[in-house]
Amino acid sequence: MIALLKCFYKSYQINKIHPKNSFSRKVIFGLNKFKKGNFLNFGVSPRSVQRHNKKHTFRGYTAYAAISLLLALLSLTSAPMQTKAINILGIETSCDETAAAVVADGRIVKSSIVASQTKLHEKYGGIVPEIASRAHIEKIYPVITEAMEQAGVNKDNIDAIAVANQPGLTIALIVGVTAAKTLSLAWDKPLIAINHLHAHLQSAMLAKENLKLPAVALVVSGGHTCLYDYHSPLEPKLLGSTIDDAAGEAFDKVANILKLSYPGGPSIEKAAKNGNPNAIKFPRSMLGRDSLDFSFSGIKTAVLYYCRGQDMKGEDKVDSMNEQEIADIAASFQAAVVDVLVKKTQRATKNIGAKTILLGGGVAANSALRDTLQKMCDNAVPPKKLLVAPKQYCTDNAVMVASLGYHKFKAKLFADLTLEPKATGL
Ligand code: KG4
Ligand code: ZN
Repeated sequence: MIALLKCFYKSYQINKIHPKNSFSRKVIFGLNKFKKGNFLNFGVSPRSVQRHNKKHTFRGYTAYAAISLLLALLSLTSAPMQTKAINILGIETSCDETAAAVVADGRIVKSSIVASQTKLHEKYGGIVPEIASRAHIEKIYPVITEAMEQAGVNKDNIDAIAVANQPGLTIALIVGVTAAKTLSLAWDKPLIAINHLHAHLQSAMLAKENLKLPAVALVVSGGHTCLYDYHSPLEPKLLGSTIDDAAGEAFDKVANILKLSYPGGPSIEKAAKNGNPNAIKFPRSMLGRDSLDFSFSGIKTAVLYYCRGQDMKGEDKVDSMNEQEIADIAASFQAAVVDVLVKKTQRATKNIGAKTILLGGGVAANSALRDTLQKMCDNAVPPKKLLVAPKQYCTDNAVMVASLGYHKFKAKLFADLTLEPKATGL
């Protein structure tokens, strides 16, 4: 391409001396030479120098350049320039999902494999770390293998390995981190450390080309509830987080109180569909006028007292409640949590003058939250753009890890083999 452009420039210089040459004549002349098999000689060591006068040679150069340019343009339109895609293998084991994915250029999902441990933990009503860790060890190899096979790639097509190393359960994270370090060493590929929460936000960015800044980002998961000032995928700045239970944790605990199935979020949402969100006025903890922190332990306790009495000595009323009563509690609880999440996000939006709001994490799959936040964005003056993670990428997955890994790869932010799992890190 560069050679062609050089040639075109050369012919352009010559053409300036002979401005009368018409474009079509140059092209026809060039095509004739092409037919005679002299095409490759054009512009390099033109035989026309011997057979034609100087003017013809100039025409030859120009024709060659014109044809070259046409061919180049044709190849551009028929087959887009083949710059090599950056394939990142993402690995996620921070909690109770063993996941691997291959993502090209940060947004083309080539594969996404998630082995959920829900069945193993449901009888305990929550995640048992030792069980989670053992299940990750069992699943990590088959999950990575399947992700590579589904993507149709081998190690030679992988540019880097990205792994969630914080925050999460240390004995769960260590499985993914060890696998990633091993592959990095064996395949001689760069290793990239990913913050699991920042990766959740990346899910909301999967479909977005241009992000209008400033932006506020809300992560609502089973272990965390965080608000960020989001300037780039690489460095979200923490504005506030939960001082006790996370939003997802509250959903799980309330589902447990209501004897709904685990995980609690989806079952509360399902039950709430038939309930009245105004049936019971559960408390909304705002933690002061300016606070951007969250607290959900109060509402969980309020549901508990509602079902078992203030002193917890009363009978467990849940067993004798009918479906509608359960639905009303679920809907009222969900409405209170959504209310707090949306009001805090609105507060942060005003504080930093945000134009865009990002939403990610397991609880972001909740339709009431998505819809209420969308309404808040639509009714704002001026309206805000809401970017929400696609539902299949709200709960833990490795697509978000590989996608964020791409941005770190571009920024050359690599880890080394001393990488450790860390329980904390917002
Ligand atoms: O992000 P995630 O998969 O794991 C963590 O990083 O913690 O989030 C899991 C949490 C669980 O607490 C689950 O109950 C909640 O997300 N969740 C939901 C919904 N789907 C999952 N919460 C409310 N509504 C949902 N539809
Ligand atoms: Zn998560």
